[in-house]
Amino acid sequence: MHEIHLSHQDKALRYQELLPQIRFLIEDETDLTANLANVSAALKEAFGFFWVGFYMVREHECELVLGPFQGPVACTRIAYGRGVCGTAWKEGRSIIVDDVEQFPGHIACSSLSRSEIVVPLRSEDGSVIGVLDIDSTETGTFDEVDRRYLEMLCNIICESAK
Ligand code: SME
Repeated sequence: MHEIHLSHQDKALRYQELLPQIRFLIEDETDLTANLANVSAALKEAFGFFWVGFYMVREHECELVLGPFQGPVACTRIAYGRGVCGTAWKEGRSIIVDDVEQFPGHIACSSLSRSEIVVPLRSEDGSVIGVLDIDSTETGTFDEVDRRYLEMLCNIICESAK
């Protein structure tokens, strides 16, 4: 499957179609791992992303551990504050990277990854419990439309986990 190129408007429309479908898919399932697996698959099917998945916080180990994902094999552990994922966790914010070669400390699980977006996944009390990580084989793939809807999606995931 190849990455799907959409206009801003078409990308927003696809998210608007997808998010209610994902909400319906996961709202009656309380197991977070199962929901993350289905969300990864749904995002892959909808957008053809090169890599899409989750890294989960292991607080006592002060690192992220690989969770459900779709795409090539990936590094299994990322230290707090390292890479794009560890930085998103540390700073508690979404990060859009137009060109991974310009991000100091970027962790290249695949040499084919050229741009990335990482969105924190939060628990009910607002603490970061993991991150959604999406990689593209092209630079400049992700923008504010992705950030807005992927943050909405992460809120839907956390609502289902209550
Ligand atoms: N690029 C990420 C590492 C995860 S792989 O992309 C799946 C980072 O720099 O944190």
